[in-house]
Amino acid sequence: VVLGIDLGTSAVKVSAIDKQGNVVAQASAKYALQQPHPGYSEQDPEDWVTQTTQAIRELLQQSEVTADQIEGLSYSGQMHGLVLLDDAANVLRPAILWNDTRTTPQCRKLESQFGDDFIKITGNRPLEGFTLPKLLWVKENEPNIWKRARTFLLPKDYLRYRMTGKLAMDRSDATGTVLLDITTSQWSETLCNQLDIPLTLCPPLIESTTYVGHINQTYAQLSGLSVNTKVFGGAADNAAGAVGAGILSSDKALVSIGTSGVVLKYEDNAQTDYRGVLQYERHAFPGKYYSMGVTLAAGYSLNWFKQTFAPDEDFGTVVASAEQSTIGANGLLFAPYIVGERAPYADATIRGSFIGVDGSHQRADFVRAVLEGIIFSFEDLIKLYQHNGAEFKTIVSIGGGAKSALWLQIQADIFNCKVVSLKNEQGPGMGAAMIAATGLGWFKTLADCAQTFVHYGKAYYPVTAHVAQYQEMYRLYQQIYVQTQPITA
Ligand code: XUL
Repeated sequence: VVLGIDLGTSAVKVSAIDKQGNVVAQASAKYALQQPHPGYSEQDPEDWVTQTTQAIRELLQQSEVTADQIEGLSYSGQMHGLVLLDDAANVLRPAILWNDTRTTPQCRKLESQFGDDFIKITGNRPLEGFTLPKLLWVKENEPNIWKRARTFLLPKDYLRYRMTGKLAMDRSDATGTVLLDITTSQWSETLCNQLDIPLTLCPPLIESTTYVGHINQTYAQLSGLSVNTKVFGGAADNAAGAVGAGILSSDKALVSIGTSGVVLKYEDNAQTDYRGVLQYERHAFPGKYYSMGVTLAAGYSLNWFKQTFAPDEDFGTVVASAEQSTIGANGLLFAPYIVGERAPYADATIRGSFIGVDGSHQRADFVRAVLEGIIFSFEDLIKLYQHNGAEFKTIVSIGGGAKSALWLQIQADIFNCKVVSLKNEQGPGMGAAMIAATGLGWFKTLADCAQTFVHYGKAYYPVTAHVAQYQEMYRLYQQIYVQTQPITA
């Protein structure tokens, strides 16, 4: 058995997976998010450790799985969060998370100091969520903490440190710091030198399947795990999600609807120039990459609609009510920019809209327009990929969008591509378990592991008549951003 530990933003989920890829036990534990000022989002790294420990203890107590059976474990982690440690590896301040937006001034400064070179070096534009602007924020605003800082880590690296005593960061997560040179996969000395960040602050780099160490005595005692369990690097949650969904070649795209939405593509190299519109990250395979675009309010848009207009109904009922409307929601369009947008428009101030409201429209039309609008915003990203030469044979849909047959069909029709969901969707924790299974040598490569672990469910094919109708709606949808930007931003 292997454990996949998915250290998320609101909870940690631990899954025990057997050699055939079956989930044999699962447990999770929540932790809080602190927002001491508007735009701030922090967590106490100690909470990650205690809650992971609790979930592991629960898993061992409430299932047949024994500590001796757990041969290895690995991680999927929320990306970009800054954990600062002193010379004794004590945590210096609460972690500053990926959804913290205090660093706009630092991002603007990086843009003016480096211009396009920043994208050339890191593969990304400097955005508020990423780690480097957070380091610069601490340097400027908390000089006493900065003076004592000796190492920085990302969330799951800290958890791994506490379980093994080894400091390391895997490259898939390290690209999300935007301090890594995306081409050489080493820390960027240019950025460190010019920003006066000691290179020694950057932890040793490893690959996702690298063996890091065994569970140490202290953690074994705390958690009930065995000191014989081997620990492997792990990956950023989006990389681990892609592994768990079998996105290991460039003919498949991943579409994931959580609070935000992600369209993700495997990349063989770091060469495609998306001009910083998409994020470029290292994959969990040595030397491979993925790119992704984020729609900020995907599931969030539907959730907002439900909470505001149908608070007493459950989600399934609200989504299913869209059946009562028709393709194109009887002419109603929705743009999901209700908290701003990240890609293809990096615009924090744009806001959403319903366009074409008619006296005959029913609530079902509004629900349908929301479901379709979210997918139109993904279509913007799919189109961007296609303009750059991508040819997708299959789109794998996970998260909220995979829970409804109606929504899956809408995706197939709008993308004009075959859409499949996963048979037994487990999220990034499955990818983490696959990394451990491959690290242990159960499989030669992650792709081999996927043959056994990843199973697709029913396929949804585009219906020609629907495709034509949606293409017409999409042409109108594309005008919404341009036309509403001046009045909503
Ligand atoms: C990706 C991002 C989020 C976090 C969530 O850039 O900010 O998807 O990884 O954990």
